[in-house]
Amino acid sequence: MGFNLAFHKNNKPIDYNILTVIELTDLVKVVEVAPEVFWVGVNDWNRRVFDSFIPLPYGTSYNAYLIVGNEHTALVDTVNPGFEDLLLRKVSRVVKPETIDYVVMNHAEPDHAGGIPRVLATAQNAKLVATRRGIEMAGVYYGVPPERAVAVKDGDSIDLGGKTLRFLEAPWLHWPETMFTLQAERQVLLTCDFFGTHMASDRLFAEDVGDGLLKEAKKYYAEIMMPFTLFVQRALDKVAGLDVKVIAPSHGPIYRDPKRIIAAYEEWARGPLKPKVVIAYVSMWGNTEALTQAIVEAVAAEGVEAIPYNMVVADVAHVASDLVDAAAVLFGSPTLIGGPHPLIASLLEVLRCIRPRVKLGAVYGSYGWGGGAAAHLKNRLQSMGFEVMGTLEVRGKPGKEDLEKAAGLAQAVAGKVKESVIKIK
Ligand code: FEO
Repeated sequence: MGFNLAFHKNNKPIDYNILTVIELTDLVKVVEVAPEVFWVGVNDWNRRVFDSFIPLPYGTSYNAYLIVGNEHTALVDTVNPGFEDLLLRKVSRVVKPETIDYVVMNHAEPDHAGGIPRVLATAQNAKLVATRRGIEMAGVYYGVPPERAVAVKDGDSIDLGGKTLRFLEAPWLHWPETMFTLQAERQVLLTCDFFGTHMASDRLFAEDVGDGLLKEAKKYYAEIMMPFTLFVQRALDKVAGLDVKVIAPSHGPIYRDPKRIIAAYEEWARGPLKPKVVIAYVSMWGNTEALTQAIVEAVAAEGVEAIPYNMVVADVAHVASDLVDAAAVLFGSPTLIGGPHPLIASLLEVLRCIRPRVKLGAVYGSYGWGGGAAAHLKNRLQSMGFEVMGTLEVRGKPGKEDLEKAAGLAQAVAGKVKESVIKIK
Protein backbone atom coordinates (compact mmCIF):
# COMPACT_ATOMS: atom_id res chain seq x y z
CA MET A 1 0.00 0.00 0.00
CA GLY A 2 1.69 3.20 -1.07
CA PHE A 3 5.36 3.96 -1.27
CA ASN A 4 8.37 4.54 0.90
CA LEU A 5 9.53 8.13 1.06
CA ALA A 6 11.29 8.07 4.42
CA PHE A 7 15.00 8.67 4.58
CA HIS A 8 17.42 8.82 7.45
CA LYS A 9 20.26 11.28 7.87
CA ASN A 10 22.51 9.72 5.25
CA ASN A 11 19.74 9.91 2.73
CA LYS A 12 19.50 6.14 2.54
CA PRO A 13 16.04 4.63 2.73
CA ILE A 14 15.00 3.35 6.13
CA ASP A 15 14.17 -0.33 6.00
CA TYR A 16 10.64 -0.42 7.29
CA ASN A 17 10.26 -4.16 6.73
CA ILE A 18 6.56 -4.78 6.72
CA LEU A 19 6.09 -1.12 7.43
CA THR A 20 5.23 1.23 4.66
CA VAL A 21 4.97 4.97 4.59
CA ILE A 22 1.74 5.51 2.78
CA GLU A 23 1.73 9.28 2.75
CA LEU A 24 4.32 11.94 3.34
CA THR A 25 3.14 15.38 2.43
CA ASP A 26 4.06 18.19 4.76
CA LEU A 27 2.82 17.18 8.17
CA VAL A 28 0.32 14.63 6.97
CA LYS A 29 2.40 11.50 7.34
CA VAL A 30 0.67 8.22 8.01
CA VAL A 31 2.68 5.06 8.57
CA GLU A 32 1.48 1.48 8.49
CA VAL A 33 3.30 0.02 11.48
CA ALA A 34 1.82 -3.44 10.90
CA PRO A 35 -0.71 -4.61 8.35
CA GLU A 36 -3.79 -2.41 8.73
CA VAL A 37 -2.38 -0.74 11.87
CA PHE A 38 -1.69 2.87 10.96
CA TRP A 39 0.19 5.48 12.95
CA VAL A 40 -1.87 8.66 12.68
CA GLY A 41 -0.14 10.50 15.51
CA VAL A 42 1.46 13.93 15.61
CA ASN A 43 4.74 15.45 16.71
CA ASP A 44 4.61 18.43 19.04
CA TRP A 45 8.03 19.89 18.30
CA ASN A 46 7.49 23.07 20.26
CA ARG A 47 6.25 21.81 23.59
CA ARG A 48 8.81 22.53 26.29
CA VAL A 49 7.11 21.54 29.53
CA PHE A 50 4.76 18.79 30.69
CA ASP A 51 2.59 18.79 33.81
CA SER A 52 3.90 22.33 34.25
CA PHE A 53 7.21 21.12 35.67
CA ILE A 54 8.73 18.40 33.48
CA PRO A 55 11.15 19.86 30.90
CA LEU A 56 10.73 18.59 27.34
CA PRO A 57 14.01 19.43 25.58
CA TYR A 58 12.99 17.44 22.50
CA GLY A 59 9.27 18.19 22.55
CA THR A 60 6.95 15.19 22.55
CA SER A 61 4.58 13.28 20.33
CA TYR A 62 1.01 12.05 20.68
CA ASN A 63 0.79 8.72 18.89
CA ALA A 64 -2.64 7.57 17.83
CA TYR A 65 -3.29 4.39 15.86
CA LEU A 66 -5.98 3.49 13.37
CA ILE A 67 -6.78 -0.21 13.09
CA VAL A 68 -8.82 -1.22 10.08
CA GLY A 69 -10.71 -4.50 9.99
CA ASN A 70 -12.88 -5.95 7.26
CA GLU A 71 -15.99 -4.72 9.01
CA HIS A 72 -15.06 -2.09 11.54
CA THR A 73 -12.45 0.57 12.20
CA ALA A 74 -11.00 1.60 15.55
CA LEU A 75 -8.98 4.63 16.53
CA VAL A 76 -6.79 3.90 19.54
CA ASP A 77 -6.04 7.06 21.54
CA THR A 78 -6.26 10.55 20.10
CA VAL A 79 -4.11 13.68 20.47
CA ASN A 80 -3.52 16.71 22.62
CA PRO A 81 -6.11 19.48 22.21
CA GLY A 82 -5.11 21.67 19.28
CA PHE A 83 -4.05 18.77 17.04
CA GLU A 84 -7.52 17.41 16.25
CA ASP A 85 -7.58 18.77 12.70
CA LEU A 86 -4.28 17.13 11.88
CA LEU A 87 -5.41 13.84 13.41
CA LEU A 88 -8.58 13.80 11.33
CA ARG A 89 -6.67 14.73 8.18
CA LYS A 90 -4.39 11.78 8.80
CA VAL A 91 -7.29 9.43 9.48
CA SER A 92 -8.86 10.57 6.23
CA ARG A 93 -5.81 9.27 4.35
CA VAL A 94 -6.95 5.78 5.30
CA VAL A 95 -10.71 5.88 5.96
CA LYS A 96 -13.42 8.49 6.17
CA PRO A 97 -13.29 9.74 9.77
CA GLU A 98 -17.09 9.57 9.91
CA THR A 99 -16.86 5.79 9.55
CA ILE A 100 -14.80 5.15 12.70
CA ASP A 101 -16.72 2.63 14.79
CA TYR A 102 -14.68 2.58 17.99
CA VAL A 103 -12.53 5.14 19.76
CA VAL A 104 -10.39 3.25 22.24
CA MET A 105 -9.21 5.32 25.19
CA ASN A 106 -6.26 3.59 26.84
CA HIS A 107 -5.81 6.57 29.15
CA ALA A 108 -7.94 9.61 29.98
CA GLU A 109 -5.23 12.29 30.25
CA PRO A 110 -5.86 15.12 27.78
CA ASP A 111 -2.64 14.62 25.78
CA HIS A 112 -4.20 11.39 24.47
CA ALA A 113 -7.90 11.81 25.15
CA GLY A 114 -8.29 15.53 24.50
CA GLY A 115 -9.27 14.86 20.90
CA ILE A 116 -12.11 12.52 21.84
CA PRO A 117 -14.94 15.09 21.78
CA ARG A 118 -14.00 16.15 18.26
CA VAL A 119 -13.64 12.58 17.01
CA LEU A 120 -16.94 11.49 18.54
CA ALA A 121 -18.62 14.56 17.04
CA THR A 122 -17.22 13.60 13.63
CA ALA A 123 -17.88 9.87 13.87
CA GLN A 124 -21.38 10.06 15.20
CA ASN A 125 -21.96 6.33 15.44
CA ALA A 126 -18.67 5.60 17.13
CA LYS A 127 -18.52 4.19 20.65
CA LEU A 128 -15.88 5.06 23.18
CA VAL A 129 -14.14 1.96 24.56
CA ALA A 130 -12.35 2.15 27.91
CA THR A 131 -12.17 0.59 31.34
CA ARG A 132 -15.06 1.24 33.69
CA ARG A 133 -13.03 3.92 35.42
CA GLY A 134 -12.03 5.32 32.06
CA ILE A 135 -15.66 5.67 31.01
CA GLU A 136 -16.38 7.53 34.22
CA MET A 137 -13.45 9.88 33.58
CA ALA A 138 -14.46 10.41 29.97
CA GLY A 139 -17.83 11.58 31.27
CA VAL A 140 -16.22 13.97 33.75
CA TYR A 141 -13.50 15.38 31.50
CA TYR A 142 -14.95 15.16 28.02
CA GLY A 143 -18.70 15.00 28.54
CA VAL A 144 -19.01 11.58 26.87
CA PRO A 145 -22.56 10.34 27.61
CA PRO A 146 -22.97 6.77 28.89
CA GLU A 147 -24.86 5.66 25.76
CA ARG A 148 -21.75 6.37 23.65
CA ALA A 149 -19.46 4.33 25.87
CA VAL A 150 -18.56 0.65 26.16
CA ALA A 151 -16.73 -0.50 29.27
CA VAL A 152 -14.24 -3.35 28.84
CA LYS A 153 -12.55 -5.61 31.36
CA ASP A 154 -9.28 -7.47 31.29
CA GLY A 155 -9.32 -10.00 28.45
CA ASP A 156 -12.35 -8.57 26.65
CA SER A 157 -12.04 -8.26 22.91
CA ILE A 158 -13.67 -6.60 19.91
CA ASP A 159 -13.68 -8.21 16.48
CA LEU A 160 -13.15 -5.66 13.73
CA GLY A 161 -13.42 -8.36 11.05
CA GLY A 162 -10.18 -10.24 10.71
CA LYS A 163 -8.58 -7.93 13.27
CA THR A 164 -9.10 -8.47 16.96
CA LEU A 165 -8.57 -5.90 19.67
CA ARG A 166 -7.90 -7.41 23.08
CA PHE A 167 -7.92 -5.20 26.14
CA LEU A 168 -5.59 -5.67 29.07
CA GLU A 169 -6.23 -3.77 32.25
CA ALA A 170 -3.03 -2.10 33.40
CA PRO A 171 -4.11 0.27 36.16
CA TRP A 172 -2.06 3.08 37.67
CA LEU A 173 0.24 3.60 34.74
CA HIS A 174 0.03 6.36 35.74
CA TRP A 175 -3.68 7.06 36.31
CA PRO A 176 -6.17 4.57 37.74
CA GLU A 177 -8.04 3.90 34.49
CA THR A 178 -5.12 2.91 32.25
CA MET A 179 -5.21 -0.14 29.99
CA PHE A 180 -3.36 -1.61 27.02
CA THR A 181 -4.85 -2.59 23.67
CA LEU A 182 -3.43 -5.60 21.85
CA GLN A 183 -3.91 -6.09 18.12
CA ALA A 184 -4.02 -9.81 18.63
CA GLU A 185 -3.25 -11.23 15.18
CA ARG A 186 -0.05 -9.19 14.83
CA GLN A 187 0.72 -8.94 18.55
CA VAL A 188 1.05 -5.17 18.35
CA LEU A 189 0.70 -3.82 21.89
CA LEU A 190 -0.55 -0.26 22.22
CA THR A 191 0.53 0.86 25.68
CA CYS A 192 -0.18 4.61 25.71
CA ASP A 193 2.15 6.21 28.33
CA PHE A 194 3.83 2.93 29.34
CA PHE A 195 7.12 2.50 27.46
CA GLY A 196 6.78 6.07 26.20
CA THR A 197 9.39 8.77 25.62
CA HIS A 198 8.92 12.49 25.40
CA MET A 199 10.49 13.01 22.01
CA ALA A 200 9.27 14.59 18.81
CA SER A 201 11.19 12.97 15.98
CA ASP A 202 10.98 12.22 12.31
CA ARG A 203 12.19 8.74 13.31
CA LEU A 204 9.06 6.80 14.16
CA PHE A 205 10.87 3.60 15.10
CA ALA A 206 13.22 3.13 18.02
CA GLU A 207 15.68 1.26 15.85
CA ASP A 208 16.21 4.43 13.81
CA VAL A 209 16.87 6.62 16.85
CA GLY A 210 20.37 6.87 18.31
CA ASP A 211 21.64 5.65 21.66
CA GLY A 212 20.17 8.68 23.40
CA LEU A 213 16.70 7.16 23.22
CA LEU A 214 16.92 5.05 26.37
CA LYS A 215 18.35 8.02 28.27
CA GLU A 216 15.23 9.98 27.39
CA ALA A 217 13.03 6.96 28.08
CA LYS A 218 14.58 6.69 31.54
CA LYS A 219 13.80 10.33 32.28
CA TYR A 220 10.24 9.70 31.20
CA TYR A 221 10.08 6.58 33.37
CA ALA A 222 11.38 8.50 36.38
CA GLU A 223 8.83 11.24 36.10
CA ILE A 224 5.76 9.33 34.98
CA MET A 225 6.06 5.66 35.95
CA MET A 226 8.41 5.49 38.96
CA PRO A 227 5.71 6.61 41.43
CA PHE A 228 3.92 3.35 40.58
CA THR A 229 6.75 0.83 40.65
CA LEU A 230 4.55 -2.00 41.93
CA PHE A 231 2.08 -1.50 39.09
CA VAL A 232 4.95 -1.27 36.62
CA GLN A 233 6.15 -4.66 37.83
CA ARG A 234 2.65 -6.15 37.46
CA ALA A 235 2.36 -4.73 33.95
CA LEU A 236 5.76 -6.14 33.03
CA ASP A 237 4.59 -9.56 34.23
CA LYS A 238 1.50 -9.20 32.08
CA VAL A 239 3.54 -8.24 29.01
CA ALA A 240 5.91 -11.16 29.65
CA GLY A 241 2.95 -13.50 29.29
CA LEU A 242 2.33 -12.31 25.74
CA ASP A 243 4.32 -12.79 22.58
CA VAL A 244 4.53 -9.13 21.68
CA LYS A 245 6.11 -8.31 18.34
CA VAL A 246 5.72 -4.52 18.38
CA ILE A 247 5.30 -2.11 21.29
CA ALA A 248 3.61 1.07 20.17
CA PRO A 249 3.33 3.66 22.93
CA SER A 250 1.60 7.00 22.60
CA HIS A 251 4.72 9.12 23.17
CA GLY A 252 7.94 8.74 21.24
CA PRO A 253 9.27 5.93 19.08
CA ILE A 254 7.68 2.54 18.39
CA TYR A 255 9.69 -0.56 19.30
CA ARG A 256 9.86 -3.26 16.63
CA ASP A 257 12.25 -5.05 18.95
CA PRO A 258 10.30 -4.88 22.22
CA LYS A 259 13.02 -6.67 24.19
CA ARG A 260 15.06 -3.47 24.34
CA ILE A 261 12.55 -1.34 26.22
CA ILE A 262 11.17 -4.25 28.26
CA ALA A 263 14.68 -5.04 29.52
CA ALA A 264 15.21 -1.38 30.40
CA TYR A 265 11.95 -1.24 32.37
CA GLU A 266 12.86 -4.48 34.16
CA GLU A 267 16.15 -2.90 35.17
CA TRP A 268 14.59 0.35 36.33
CA ALA A 269 11.71 -1.25 38.22
CA ARG A 270 13.34 -4.39 39.62
CA GLY A 271 17.08 -4.16 39.08
CA PRO A 272 19.49 -3.51 41.94
CA LEU A 273 20.26 0.02 43.02
CA LYS A 274 23.62 1.22 41.73
CA PRO A 275 26.70 2.31 43.66
CA LYS A 276 25.98 5.96 43.13
CA VAL A 277 25.04 8.85 45.35
CA VAL A 278 23.07 11.87 44.19
CA ILE A 279 24.14 15.06 45.94
CA ALA A 280 21.53 17.78 45.41
CA TYR A 281 22.45 21.15 46.81
CA VAL A 282 22.09 24.91 46.70
CA SER A 283 24.65 27.42 47.89
CA MET A 284 24.17 31.17 48.26
CA TRP A 285 27.64 32.33 49.37
CA GLY A 286 29.84 29.34 48.63
CA ASN A 287 29.77 27.70 52.06
CA THR A 288 27.39 24.85 51.29
CA GLU A 289 29.28 24.56 48.00
CA ALA A 290 32.54 24.00 49.91
CA LEU A 291 30.91 21.26 51.98
CA THR A 292 29.62 19.75 48.73
CA GLN A 293 33.13 19.62 47.30
CA ALA A 294 34.36 17.72 50.34
CA ILE A 295 31.39 15.33 50.12
CA VAL A 296 31.81 14.64 46.42
CA GLU A 297 35.50 13.85 46.86
CA ALA A 298 34.88 11.62 49.87
CA VAL A 299 32.14 9.62 48.13
CA ALA A 300 34.29 9.17 45.03
CA ALA A 301 37.27 8.14 47.18
CA GLU A 302 35.15 5.25 48.47
CA GLY A 303 34.73 3.98 44.92
CA VAL A 304 31.11 5.11 44.75
CA GLU A 305 29.91 7.39 41.99
CA ALA A 306 29.14 10.90 43.22
CA ILE A 307 26.68 12.91 41.14
CA PRO A 308 26.36 16.51 42.32
CA TYR A 309 23.47 18.65 41.14
CA ASN A 310 23.41 22.34 41.86
CA MET A 311 19.65 22.84 41.90
CA VAL A 312 20.01 26.45 40.80
CA VAL A 313 20.98 25.25 37.34
CA ALA A 314 20.20 21.52 37.33
CA ASP A 315 17.53 20.00 35.09
CA VAL A 316 15.14 18.27 37.47
CA ALA A 317 14.59 15.54 34.87
CA HIS A 318 18.26 14.56 35.10
CA VAL A 319 18.04 14.39 38.88
CA ALA A 320 14.90 12.26 38.67
CA SER A 321 16.56 9.95 36.16
CA ASP A 322 19.54 9.37 38.45
CA LEU A 323 17.18 8.72 41.34
CA VAL A 324 15.80 5.70 39.47
CA ASP A 325 18.79 3.63 40.59
CA ALA A 326 20.89 5.73 42.98
CA ALA A 327 21.51 4.03 46.32
CA ALA A 328 21.65 7.21 48.41
CA VAL A 329 20.87 10.89 48.15
CA LEU A 330 22.37 13.79 50.07
CA PHE A 331 20.72 17.17 50.39
CA GLY A 332 22.79 20.31 50.91
CA SER A 333 21.03 23.52 51.83
CA PRO A 334 21.87 26.73 53.60
CA THR A 335 19.39 27.87 56.21
CA LEU A 336 17.20 30.60 54.79
CA ILE A 337 14.84 32.31 57.24
CA GLY A 338 14.88 29.32 59.58
CA GLY A 339 14.36 26.63 56.96
CA PRO A 340 15.77 25.06 53.78
CA HIS A 341 16.40 26.97 50.60
CA PRO A 342 13.19 26.95 48.50
CA LEU A 343 14.85 25.08 45.62
CA ILE A 344 15.78 22.20 47.94
CA ALA A 345 12.34 22.26 49.56
CA SER A 346 10.89 22.10 46.06
CA LEU A 347 13.09 19.12 45.19
CA LEU A 348 11.72 17.26 48.18
CA GLU A 349 8.23 17.81 46.78
CA VAL A 350 9.46 16.34 43.49
CA LEU A 351 10.73 13.33 45.44
CA ARG A 352 7.35 12.97 47.08
CA CYS A 353 5.77 12.86 43.64
CA ILE A 354 8.19 10.55 41.86
CA ARG A 355 8.77 8.13 44.78
CA PRO A 356 12.23 6.77 44.00
CA ARG A 357 13.26 3.45 45.52
CA VAL A 358 16.24 5.05 47.27
CA LYS A 359 15.60 5.42 51.00
CA LEU A 360 19.05 6.27 52.33
CA GLY A 361 20.08 9.89 52.82
CA ALA A 362 21.85 12.59 54.77
CA VAL A 363 21.59 16.34 55.11
CA TYR A 364 24.18 19.11 55.36
CA GLY A 365 24.51 22.85 54.93
CA SER A 366 25.63 26.17 56.34
CA TYR A 367 23.89 28.94 58.26
CA GLY A 368 24.56 32.54 59.23
CA TRP A 369 23.08 33.20 62.67
CA GLY A 370 20.74 30.31 63.38
CA GLY A 371 20.35 26.89 61.74
CA GLY A 372 17.18 24.96 61.07
CA ALA A 373 17.37 23.74 57.48
CA ALA A 374 18.93 20.39 58.40
CA ALA A 375 16.33 19.54 61.04
CA HIS A 376 13.53 20.50 58.66
CA LEU A 377 14.95 18.38 55.85
CA LYS A 378 15.61 15.44 58.15
CA ASN A 379 12.01 15.43 59.37
CA ARG A 380 10.70 15.73 55.85
CA LEU A 381 12.87 12.87 54.59
CA GLN A 382 11.94 10.64 57.52
CA SER A 383 8.27 11.29 56.78
CA MET A 384 8.97 9.84 53.32
CA GLY A 385 10.54 6.72 54.81
CA PHE A 386 14.20 7.71 54.49
CA GLU A 387 16.89 6.58 56.87
CA VAL A 388 18.79 9.83 57.48
CA MET A 389 22.34 8.84 58.34
CA GLY A 390 23.34 12.23 59.68
CA THR A 391 22.90 15.96 59.63
CA LEU A 392 25.69 18.50 59.50
CA GLU A 393 25.22 22.23 59.96
CA VAL A 394 28.16 24.61 59.80
CA ARG A 395 28.15 28.29 60.75
CA GLY A 396 29.63 30.47 58.01
CA LYS A 397 32.63 29.41 56.03
CA PRO A 398 33.55 25.76 56.69
CA GLY A 399 36.91 25.28 58.37
CA LYS A 400 39.17 22.26 58.11
CA GLU A 401 37.33 20.46 60.87
CA ASP A 402 33.98 21.13 59.23
CA LEU A 403 35.20 19.81 55.92
CA GLU A 404 36.48 16.68 57.66
CA LYS A 405 33.08 16.21 59.27
CA ALA A 406 31.43 16.55 55.85
CA ALA A 407 33.85 14.01 54.41
CA GLY A 408 33.17 11.70 57.34
CA LEU A 409 29.42 11.87 56.76
CA ALA A 410 29.96 11.17 53.07
CA GLN A 411 32.23 8.21 53.86
CA ALA A 412 29.62 6.76 56.19
CA VAL A 413 26.92 7.03 53.51
CA ALA A 414 29.20 5.57 50.83
CA GLY A 415 30.19 2.77 53.20
CA LYS A 416 26.57 1.89 53.82
CA VAL A 417 25.88 1.99 50.09
CA LYS A 418 28.68 -0.51 49.52
CA GLU A 419 27.78 -2.82 52.36
CA SER A 420 24.02 -2.88 52.04
CA VAL A 421 23.13 -2.50 48.45
CA ILE A 422 25.66 -3.49 45.91
CA LYS A 423 28.67 -5.51 45.11
CA ILE A 424 31.13 -3.07 43.64
CA LYS A 425 33.48 -4.56 41.13
FE1 FEO B 1 0.80 11.00 28.10
FE2 FEO B 1 -0.54 10.41 31.12
O1 FEO B 1 -0.48 11.13 29.44
